[in-house]
Amino acid sequence: MKYSCQKGTKDILPEEVYKWQKAESAFAEICGQYGYKEIRIPTFEQTDLFLRSVGDTTDVVQKEMYTFEDKGGRSITLRPEGTAGVVRSFVENGMSSLPSPVRLFYNITAFRYEKMQKGRYREFHQFGVEAFGAEGPAIDAEIISILVAFFERMGLKKTKLCINSIGCPTCRAEYNKILKDYFRPHLSEMCEDCQSRFEKNPLRMIDCKEEKCGAIAAKAPRLIDYLCDDCKAHFEGLKANLEALGISYEIDSGIVRGLDYYTRTVFEFKSENVGSQGTICGGGRYDGLVSEIGGQPTPGIGFAMGAERFLLEMEAQGIEIEKDQKVQLYIANLSPETQIEAQKLAFGLRKQGIGCEIDLMGRSFRAQMKYAGKTGIPFLLVLGDEEISSGKAKLKAMADGTEKEIELSGIADAIRSWNA
Ligand code: HAM
Repeated sequence: MKYSCQKGTKDILPEEVYKWQKAESAFAEICGQYGYKEIRIPTFEQTDLFLRSVGDTTDVVQKEMYTFEDKGGRSITLRPEGTAGVVRSFVENGMSSLPSPVRLFYNITAFRYEKMQKGRYREFHQFGVEAFGAEGPAIDAEIISILVAFFERMGLKKTKLCINSIGCPTCRAEYNKILKDYFRPHLSEMCEDCQSRFEKNPLRMIDCKEEKCGAIAAKAPRLIDYLCDDCKAHFEGLKANLEALGISYEIDSGIVRGLDYYTRTVFEFKSENVGSQGTICGGGRYDGLVSEIGGQPTPGIGFAMGAERFLLEMEAQGIEIEKDQKVQLYIANLSPETQIEAQKLAFGLRKQGIGCEIDLMGRSFRAQMKYAGKTGIPFLLVLGDEEISSGKAKLKAMADGTEKEIELSGIADAIRSWNA
């Protein structure tokens, strides 16, 4: 029996893991600079949380959730995204009593049973932030600027920020009537999902993935043209704030996002790279969500970036992520006795902050040299009987072959001061 990883899942192998680590640490560092604190939430939640927050008419809930009954008969769902769990935690842990805004970030896996295509997986990773308690548009601009800073730090170019406003329940109620008037004569040509969404949630019909529905939805009236005065002012505020920060944007009135909790600001970063897989990241405001799941009315906003999409985009744009060399010294050894001495030496050096690798397989000297050359480890030291008895050895810089004779007790200093 041969096992393989499940469709839509992926091993992240040691030779590519450094890219993830670099992206994760850059994201965490930037979030930290903005005062966002990391939160870690469970992988699964009770199913009802997602029905209430993501929305029972969304594709995510209707078609994509990994839902099962556990042995205690509870309906459990592997999180299809992070916002619902973070909001649940915000309410459950009484975070509304903390000074506002409460700024959180996370790095999670998420699960959606989706049709496979490039950049679309069934288990994927999201880097996200959620901020609670601030109503004005300044925080909308703040979280967008986190992404701009992250892309800049990682060297990613050719991204396009698209923003839109999908209003509040007041303007949405008016708009829903207008939207239904528009869709009504086309309803019989539209898919079954759209037909059932017509009564329950007509806004969802705007982003239906069916081609025939998409063509009809493309000409539908846009919510941004029907915003109430408060929502209009909020959107103008966001635009002014982005302009003040020098962040360029486009208004895309077609963005409604695929999750039901959004109000007012919605945004996406898309790739401008030809042939790339669309949206790298998306987010928006959810001013009604905290109260929807049982908390005090509290405005909220956040985003999530697909880590796989981000890394694919880096690759597509030919941007290399530099590899860290954690091991600085290779200690070659020539016999079981010198192997033990090499092991002792390496044990001590690592405590002094010098990463070391040694051969433990009794390989020939030639094989060890070949291996050391391949790894890119910058320094080499050969430990034989003579070196052990004299307490001295030659330290060699692999880049140019230069050698220095040094005391075995002074290896760490010699490496640190090599280029000084
Ligand atoms: P979302 O647009 O559903 O929003 O997902 C955010 C990002 O996750 C997408 O832009 C994409 O990069 C990535 N993504 C989604 N599905 C997949 C998939 N099947 N395979 C690979 N990547 C995927 C949310 O999840 C919201 N929770 C974002 C948010 C946070 N809004 C407010 N706060």
